[in-house]
Amino acid sequence: MTLASRLPEYPWDELAPIAEKARAFPGGAVDLSIGTPVDPVPVVIREALAAAANAPGYPLTAGTPELRSAAAGWLSRSLEVHVDPVTVLPVIGTKEFIAWLPVVLGLGPADTVVYPSLAYPTYEMGARLAGAHGFAVDDGALAEVPASARLLWLNSPSNPTGRVLPAAAQRGAVEWARSHGVLLASDECYIELGWDVTPVSALHTSVRGDSLDGVLAVFSLSKRSNLAGYRAGFVTGDPALMKELLLVGRQAGMIMPAPVQAAMTAALSDDEHAVEQKARYGARRDILAAGLRGAGFTIEHSEAGLYLWATRPGLNCWAACELLAAECGILVGPGSMYGSAGSDYIRVALTATDERVAAAGARLRGFAGR
Ligand SMILES: Cc1ncc(COP(=O)(O)O)c(C=O)c1O
Repeated sequence: MTLASRLPEYPWDELAPIAEKARAFPGGAVDLSIGTPVDPVPVVIREALAAAANAPGYPLTAGTPELRSAAAGWLSRSLEVHVDPVTVLPVIGTKEFIAWLPVVLGLGPADTVVYPSLAYPTYEMGARLAGAHGFAVDDGALAEVPASARLLWLNSPSNPTGRVLPAAAQRGAVEWARSHGVLLASDECYIELGWDVTPVSALHTSVRGDSLDGVLAVFSLSKRSNLAGYRAGFVTGDPALMKELLLVGRQAGMIMPAPVQAAMTAALSDDEHAVEQKARYGARRDILAAGLRGAGFTIEHSEAGLYLWATRPGLNCWAACELLAAECGILVGPGSMYGSAGSDYIRVALTATDERVAAAGARLRGFAGR
C-alpha cells in the first residue's frame, strides 16, 4: 500500500468552488473557514525570538529548563494543574504530535485509536499513518469500543462543536481507559477559551485523581498566543510515558528550534497578551453569533473554543456554505468534514480581523432583512 492511499485528499480543497463565490461578493470574502490566527504576534514574544536568533548549536529536545518551568508555571496559574517541569516536552506544533503519536507508541494493524465522532480529523490521520484502526465514538459509548483500543483522544473544548466535557465525564473516561490499558490523550488546544463555562484540564486532580498514570495532555500556543506560524506546543502527563516520549524525540531528532523555545518561554510567562486576545475573540463571537441567529441559524454547543457550531433548518452543510458564500460572501466550513454527524452543521471560525468580522455582521444583517 502506498502512503498516499492510506490518506484521504486534503478536505479543504473541496471548498475551492464555494470560496470562489465568496471572493466574488462585493467587498470581498470574509473567510471564517479555517481557525488560523490573524492578529499580530505579541511584541513580548517577537522580542524573545529575536534575542535568541544567534543559535548555532543543537537545542535540547527536552526544552530549556526555563521553557519547562514556564510551561509548568502556566499550567499551575491558568488551569490549577500541577506537574513536574521535567515531564514537559515541547513539540513542533501539536498537529504533528497528534498525527505521529500512534506511530511513536508503536501502534499498528492490531491496534485501534479512538476519538470523538465529531472531531479534528488529525486523530484519524494518526491512526492511518500507523496502519492502525480508527474508531469514532459518541459520548458515553465507550462500552462499544473494541478490545484492541490502545489510545483514546479527548478534545475539550471540542473542535468543531465548542462543547466542553465536564470533569465528571472526563473522569469516567480516565477510569475506563485505565481499567482497559488504554492511554488517554487529551487535546486541550482551546482550554483557555471558555465563554459560558470554564473548561477543566484532564490533568486536573478532579479528573485524574492523585496519579498521572495513563494520562497525557497536549497544549498548543497557536491560538492562545497567535503562534501558529512559530509551530509551538507542549505535552505533559504520565511521568513514565513522558520519559519514553522524550527518548523517542531525542533518538529521532524531534527538536524544537532554540529561538522558538525562547519565544514560547516568553509566551507562557505572560498572561496579559492572552487575556487581550481572548477579549478580541469574544467580541467577534458576539457579532457573528448575533448575525447568524438573525439569518435563521441556530447555534449549538459553542460554549468554549474558537468556533460557532451552527445549523439552519432545511439546509445541509454544503447548502449552508453555498448560501453564506453567495448571499454574504462569508466562507465557512462544512460540518461533514468532522464526521458524518456534522452533515447538517457549519463551523464558523472567530479568526478574522475586526474589520472583516464587522463586514460579516453587516452582511448577515442585510441578508436577514431581505
Ligand atoms: C483540536 C485541535 N488540536 C490541535 C490543533 C493543532 O494546533 P497546532 O498544530 O497549531 O498546535 C488544532 C488546530 O487547529 C486543533 O483544532
